[in-house]
Amino acid sequence: MYSKELLSAVAALSLVSGVAAVGCKDDPVTINNAADATQASNCETIPNDVVLDVNAGPMIDLGGKLTEIGGSLIVKNNGLIQTLQSSSLQTIGNVFQLNNVTSLASLIFPALGEVGSIDWSTLSKLPEPTFGNPGITKAKSVTISDTFITNIDGLNVQSLTDMNINNNRRLSQFSTSIKTLSNALYVQANGLNLTMELPNLEWIANMTIANVTSFSVPSLKTVNGSMRFDSNYFTSFMAINLTEIQDGDLSFVSNPQLLNVSVPQLKSIGGGLTIANNTALQKIDGLDSLETVGGAIKMRGSFDEIDLPKLGNVIGTAEFVSTGDISQSCDALNKLSGSVIQGKVTACQSNNASANNDTSSAGNGGNGTGGSGSGSGNHNAASLGSVSMSTVVSLAALGGLVAAFL
Ligand SMILES: *[C@@H]1O[C@H](CO)[C@@H](O)[C@H](O)[C@H]1NC(C)=O
Ligand SMILES: *[C@@H]1O[C@H](CO)[C@@H](O)[C@H](O)[C@H]1NC(C)=O
Ligand SMILES: *[C@@H]1O[C@H](CO)[C@@H](O)[C@H](O)[C@H]1NC(C)=O
Ligand SMILES: *[C@@H]1O[C@H](CO)[C@@H](O)[C@H](O)[C@H]1NC(C)=O
Ligand SMILES: *[C@@H]1O[C@H](CO)[C@@H](O)[C@H](O)[C@H]1NC(C)=O
Ligand SMILES: *[C@@H]1O[C@H](CO)[C@@H](O)[C@H](O)[C@H]1NC(C)=O
Ligand SMILES: *[C@@H]1O[C@H](CO)[C@@H](O)[C@H](O)[C@H]1NC(C)=O
Ligand SMILES: *[C@@H]1O[C@H](CO)[C@@H](O)[C@H](O)[C@H]1NC(C)=O
Ligand SMILES: *[C@@H]1O[C@H](CO)[C@@H](O)[C@H](O)[C@H]1NC(C)=O
Ligand SMILES: *[C@@H]1O[C@H](CO)[C@@H](O)[C@H](O)[C@H]1NC(C)=O
Ligand SMILES: *[C@@H]1O[C@H](CO)[C@@H](O)[C@H](O)[C@H]1NC(C)=O
Repeated sequence: MYSKELLSAVAALSLVSGVAAVGCKDDPVTINNAADATQASNCETIPNDVVLDVNAGPMIDLGGKLTEIGGSLIVKNNGLIQTLQSSSLQTIGNVFQLNNVTSLASLIFPALGEVGSIDWSTLSKLPEPTFGNPGITKAKSVTISDTFITNIDGLNVQSLTDMNINNNRRLSQFSTSIKTLSNALYVQANGLNLTMELPNLEWIANMTIANVTSFSVPSLKTVNGSMRFDSNYFTSFMAINLTEIQDGDLSFVSNPQLLNVSVPQLKSIGGGLTIANNTALQKIDGLDSLETVGGAIKMRGSFDEIDLPKLGNVIGTAEFVSTGDISQSCDALNKLSGSVIQGKVTACQSNNASANNDTSSAGNGGNGTGGSGSGSGNHNAASLGSVSMSTVVSLAALGGLVAAFL
């Protein structure tokens, strides 16, 4: 037993009465055990962070009166907690952070609608978070990495700055209602059977998608930056409403089952266009509206036909190399060298057995090809159309240099 002399009057009072070990205005509110959680749940609002101790658990319930945490809800390096829940919490102002919480198997937040951001990583036992309907409708950024999650329903956000979904080895279904994403979507190394659906996505700044089995963006109109697809397993890629890639690159590299790329309304690419090592792709016939490319073009593969019927202005160089016979396409493409393709056709080559070896991208292909266009400079090919050749080349070279140092 503690002697009274060792305790401050306030603490003594709180011990005796059994209340107020946790204060609503504590900064942060620290939860060491279930009893602390019960006390915190009696606050309607907690303005600061709520931090769970590494030994809090196995069950922490923040349900009761608590509707809002103004700061972050943080659980880090806790191997004990199995269940974290709150039936009343509606808002987390800052970060909902779960990092290295390896026994957490049950996460139940049926009232949660708004979070500043989600930052979840190393949740090796969590199969599925439980949200309500409509679930989380507001968040600025979402990172879900290295979890046991099989699907991410209940994330019904319309606008995001960033989303990063990686190394969730069991994730097989990812469908989200996002309409706009203002910085970057990054998806990599999830379940090998991942179906991704973004039915409402209208514009996105950048996306990098890898190891995905099916991908759908029927409403996508604009990519502001770059769009890259590496090592995916889909057989076809279609973006029927995509009309422009404003500043960056379009790139398909090492998608071994890809048979068809169809972006029928795409008119302009601000940066470079790379199609490389997609060994099943026989024809490039899905870019029928493509007029301008602000960077370079690199197409290397096993195709026997390349159709770019509307191509009107390419600032950089262009290179077409195939393991197959593309001589007919080359007849047409070589005619564009130095005119439509300002940086010249540096190669148009059939029957090259090593065609699929080089997967470097057009954007950073060097030699004055301009390209990757990460927002640097103005890659508007059309506006450069009337400038003298030497100016164009030096501007393009500068673009390439800037890109190389980014
Ligand atoms: C993860 O949490 C455990 C405790 O559960 C701890 O021992 C370990 O060091 C943490 N790992 C990292 C990388 O912080
Ligand atoms: C992306 O482009 C769309 C359509 O032009 C525009 O409405 C949006 O503001 C742009 N977003 C960014 C982040 O530039
Ligand atoms: C992938 O999904 C398909 C159809 O949903 C299924 O038939 C197949 O077994 C799955 N493969 C793996 C490795 O899970
Ligand atoms: C996943 O994609 C990356 C490229 O981003 C690639 O290096 C890796 O080999 C792929 N993994 C599998 C299993 O396909
Ligand atoms: C594609 O764009 C057209 C014209 O803007 C629009 O009417 C249509 O609904 C869009 N399709 C999808 C699937 O969003
Ligand atoms: C996303 O694209 C914009 C241009 O729209 C660019 O400025 C920005 O650096 C890109 N961000 C990333 C992470 O690539
Ligand atoms: C690719 O898909 C489009 C749209 O479905 C279709 O019109 C086109 O013929 C296909 N091309 C190949 C080579 O299969
Ligand atoms: C390039 O491809 C050829 C023919 O497929 C192969 O023999 C060679 O080993 C490859 N070279 C490299 C560096 O991968
Ligand atoms: C074949 O293509 C490779 C790269 O794709 C290139 O390095 C090589 O020079 C080409 N071979 C010939 C004979 O031109
Ligand atoms: C080409 O793609 C195949 C299959 O995805 C992959 O195994 C290989 O490493 C890729 N080649 C290069 C040079 O990246
Ligand atoms: C750039 O192109 C010139 C002329 O086409 C060529 O002589 C030179 O080797 C190239 N440089 C590089 C780094 O590819």
